[in-house]
Amino acid sequence: MLITMELNGRRVSREVSPDTLLLDFVRAEGAFSVKRGCETSNCGLCTVFLNEHPVLSCSVLAARAEGRRVTTLEGLQKEAKELGAFIADQGAEQCGFCNPGFIMNTISLLREHPNPDEAEIRSYLAGNLCRCSGYEGQMRGIVAYLKWREEAGHSGE
Ligand code: FES
Ligand code: FES
Repeated sequence: MLITMELNGRRVSREVSPDTLLLDFVRAEGAFSVKRGCETSNCGLCTVFLNEHPVLSCSVLAARAEGRRVTTLEGLQKEAKELGAFIADQGAEQCGFCNPGFIMNTISLLREHPNPDEAEIRSYLAGNLCRCSGYEGQMRGIVAYLKWREEAGHSGE
């Protein structure tokens, strides 16, 4: 079947089998930030935005994205770079495999709730697993990023 979607602002069409996962579709189009982790909807590494809402691309068929907008970290360079720098500053990045999923979901959280407290951040990111760290570095990085945004007057953008 022919699937057409807008991937990171670019119209893409590809013949795929009906059971092709969105994860495989976007990676075949070069979106390698989308990681193949558990493939059982448990780790958050494969998060993409489907029409601006985060979904786990390992559990969504590519056909569901027909005619819709799909965004990966490659399409969110500015936000990803800024937030990623704060997380790296806290030494949270070890192997870095979980980072794209964390950043995607943090961006989504901040779009829904521009000024979350720590409990809200932990709750929203509970589905993002990291095999290397205790999550404290990521949390410090996100809190520092929020503080920077507030001081720079970027909150709520
Ligand atoms: S690979 Fe999709 S949730 Fe883990
Ligand atoms: S830093 Fe390695 S999985 Fe999170």
